[in-house]
Amino acid sequence: MKALITGGAGFIGSHLADRLLDRGDEVLVIDNYATGRRDNLKPRSGLTIVENTIADGQVVDDAIGSFGPDIVVHAAASYKDPDNWAEDSRANVLGTANVVRACMKRGVGRIIYFQTALCYGLQPIERPITLNHPLHPEASSYAISKTAGEQYIRLSGLNWLSFRLANAYGPRNLSGPLPTFFQRLTSNRPCFVMDTRRDFIYVHDLVDCVLRAIAKSALNGAYHISSGADFSINELFDAALKALNITLEKPVEVRPRGADDAFTILLDPSRTITDLGWRPTTSLTDGVAAAIAYYREYGIAETYTHLRIDKH
Ligand SMILES: NC(=O)c1ccc[n+]([C@@H]2O[C@H](COP(=O)([O-])OP(=O)(O)OC[C@H]3O[C@@H](n4cnc5c(N)ncnc54)[C@H](O)[C@@H]3O)[C@@H](O)[C@H]2O)c1
Repeated sequence: MKALITGGAGFIGSHLADRLLDRGDEVLVIDNYATGRRDNLKPRSGLTIVENTIADGQVVDDAIGSFGPDIVVHAAASYKDPDNWAEDSRANVLGTANVVRACMKRGVGRIIYFQTALCYGLQPIERPITLNHPLHPEASSYAISKTAGEQYIRLSGLNWLSFRLANAYGPRNLSGPLPTFFQRLTSNRPCFVMDTRRDFIYVHDLVDCVLRAIAKSALNGAYHISSGADFSINELFDAALKALNITLEKPVEVRPRGADDAFTILLDPSRTITDLGWRPTTSLTDGVAAAIAYYREYGIAETYTHLRIDKH
């Protein structure tokens, strides 16, 4: 199979690329390295990387036209500066429109998208959130632009899948609390945790789900990829302490969440379980240990967030 992965040098995209390459597929990645890392994708047979932006429609059309993918996995997204609405719009709205139009023009059969659970807003009316929950992306530029992108995909008439994701974590993950915990705990800086809860999904479990979906060509529409359980950020912190073999003298400081943060986001994975026969298998303890082993080996140059958090 030939798969084109936008954002393939990023966390989720590179894990998917590795799995497809491992089984002999051809992969073309388009990435501008805004948040991707060069060491995520090692040069290997079957892999081509185009270093460019999906905001350039010609770049996207040329790549899709010359590679002729069977499937496009659209994982590229901008989110690292909550005030850079222009870049979020360029990458997430215009970029997605470019990817979709090129797929339509070039006859690509299928497109897979990754959507943020923030599309449901900061005060979801259900717990767990079902796929029928109304969309309320208005709280952030990231959610607004990602939701517009999802709407363009629906508009296309292509066979599409939008995976609305819980908080993915694991090796190569540079966003969310875990890489920050690692940085602070390994440099003797004080830590704090937010009073929030999140549904954490280990990246290998997530990629297993995507591979099952790729194999089922009749599948169409929105799905949740979620562990089905939410954990407090404090529990994540404890798993990090355990993986690092650190005991603190006093309990970690718990801080109230910011105005742009949700207390809990728990997604209902039942449609995914029914249609794909998929279930996550990695415990939080094992997943956090694998992420920490990665941070130790590769280091963390930068971390990213779409939130306006107090970094001090
Ligand atoms: N990680 C999560 O928990 C999570 C949750 C919900 C949704 N998502 C979505 O999953 C997808 C992958 O996210 P991730 O966690 O791997 O993040 P990531 O930052 O590691 O990957 C995104 C990749 O897109 C690239 N990129 C950004 N702008 C681009 C542009 N204009 N042109 C080309 N490449 C560009 C980045 O360099 C990066 O490699 C994104 O669409 C994101 O919105 C992720």
